[in-house]
Amino acid sequence: MGRSVLVVLWILVFTRPCKPKNVGWIWHVTDFHWDFTYDDRRLSCREYQADSGPFGDFWCDSPWRLCQEAVNIMTLTKPKVDFVLWTGDNVLHGKDEDLNLTRNNEILTRLTSLLSDAFPDIPIYPTFGNHDYWPTDQFPAHGNTLYNLTLENWKQWINDTVQENNFLKGAYYTVKTQHDLRIIALNTNLYYTSNKMTKDMKDPADQFQWLELVLSEAATKKEKVLVTGHVPPGIYAPGGFSWMYKQFNEAFNDLMIKHSDVIVGLHFGHSHADLWSLYRNSAGEPVVPVFMAPSVTPWRYKISASGHNPAVRLIKYDRDDGSPLDISNYYMDLDLSNKNNRPEWQISYNMTTGYDIPDVTPSSLARVIGRMKTNMVPLQNYNKWRFANAPANVTVPCDDKCSQEVLCSLDHLDIDDFNSCLQNVSSGSGIWLDTIIIVCTFILYFFKIES
Ligand SMILES: *[C@@H]1O[C@H](CO)[C@@H](O)[C@H](O)[C@H]1NC(C)=O
Ligand SMILES: *[C@@H]1O[C@H](CO)[C@@H](O)[C@H](O)[C@H]1NC(C)=O
Ligand SMILES: *[C@@H]1O[C@H](CO)[C@@H](O)[C@H](O)[C@H]1NC(C)=O
Ligand SMILES: *[C@@H]1O[C@H](CO)[C@@H](O)[C@H](O)[C@H]1NC(C)=O
Ligand SMILES: *[C@@H]1O[C@H](CO)[C@@H](O)[C@H](O)[C@H]1NC(C)=O
Ligand SMILES: [Zn+2]
Ligand SMILES: [Zn+2]
Repeated sequence: MGRSVLVVLWILVFTRPCKPKNVGWIWHVTDFHWDFTYDDRRLSCREYQADSGPFGDFWCDSPWRLCQEAVNIMTLTKPKVDFVLWTGDNVLHGKDEDLNLTRNNEILTRLTSLLSDAFPDIPIYPTFGNHDYWPTDQFPAHGNTLYNLTLENWKQWINDTVQENNFLKGAYYTVKTQHDLRIIALNTNLYYTSNKMTKDMKDPADQFQWLELVLSEAATKKEKVLVTGHVPPGIYAPGGFSWMYKQFNEAFNDLMIKHSDVIVGLHFGHSHADLWSLYRNSAGEPVVPVFMAPSVTPWRYKISASGHNPAVRLIKYDRDDGSPLDISNYYMDLDLSNKNNRPEWQISYNMTTGYDIPDVTPSSLARVIGRMKTNMVPLQNYNKWRFANAPANVTVPCDDKCSQEVLCSLDHLDIDDFNSCLQNVSSGSGIWLDTIIIVCTFILYFFKIES
């Protein structure tokens, strides 16, 4: 009798379900680059022979119909998310003489309505992209008419006088979500290497000073913070360059690592590709993940020439501690959609299944990076999924040099660290090569003696 009670107790203990996670969802949409002239002048692609499908073209920025369908697939797939991240670059890739501030403001206003009508009761946390300013990229380090005009559109989500003043000063702000996650929305276009206005500055629009203060206060209040913006920190690879001026990338990285206890993740745009990286602290421990989302626009840059389909991103997270649980991308098959004259969306992959990890927290991403050092498959997948939304006939080749750069970029976000990582890798393989040559020489030598 006593024994069977014990057995039942043991069974109860071992079958007790773990406390279920309080799961929340976030949409991330970025880089619409709406070409309002798609039906006539095609300002985003006039030097290319583009076939004009109704949903867009791999050489061009998004027609309005594509912008609408991108938002539609979000509301159809998951209408009830906790919030939406919208990380800029709404204006087409055009020449300054074809645009002006009024026109850019009209584009921003139209897209604001598109998103707010689609998600009437859900907060949207927008940030500017480098193309949203006019002249393009040249965000000044002080208030200007675009900030004033845009605040009228976005204050429905900021809704706080102090933060509205921050927005008027430098287009940055912070808000708290209904699940107590703190959002810090930044204007990292102030740090972008194409911005001539801020090149020699230390702290344009006092954004770093403000960021430091908000992060310190978050630590005191035991809050968790999600950081969002357009131009990402770190090193882009292959190529091995930073989108930010060196002094800004360094200052940014220092702040992220210093306050890594409170930061659950960074979500940025600008790269038009699915990329991620990982901050490590001075002890080498993985501390903060950085995620870059693929773009709505299929427009391909003439040099990299990687055609990719339009995409939006769904993020799964833990409402209790803000930690990122999974990321999935949805993409439109552009050729098929144009052929069928109807939007054809597919889910491309999700990170947990794709990389065989339980979640996308820093320790899980560190495990993936660890595996990449001994196994080519996860690194090949990283390169494949960078344009997972690419049509099947597009492959992005990555040779040994490229692979080493990508691997180093994943957890070296500072350009000097990145370069010394590359040097270690190549001198490492140099030692291997020397060893192999010496061993072969010996084998040949003895083989010759024997025969
Ligand atoms: C701004 O650009 C739009 C579209 O290119 C044009 O129609 C409008 O006349 C321009 N406005 C000014 C003030 O230049
Ligand atoms: C923007 O709005 C603020 C507050 O209303 C005002 O003080 C400032 O002069 C405006 N700036 C511009 C460039 O319109
Ligand atoms: C703005 O905040 C106030 C006070 O917190 C609240 O009553 C109001 O409903 C909010 N407005 C919007 C548009 O969320
Ligand atoms: C893929 O191939 C098809 C058929 O040859 C072509 O129409 C399409 O433009 C290609 N896609 C890209 C991105 O090059
Ligand atoms: C992730 O992808 C796998 C394989 O495609 C699928 O079975 C799984 O349901 C996906 N998980 C989520 C959360 O979407
Ligand atoms: Zn862009
Ligand atoms: Zn951009």
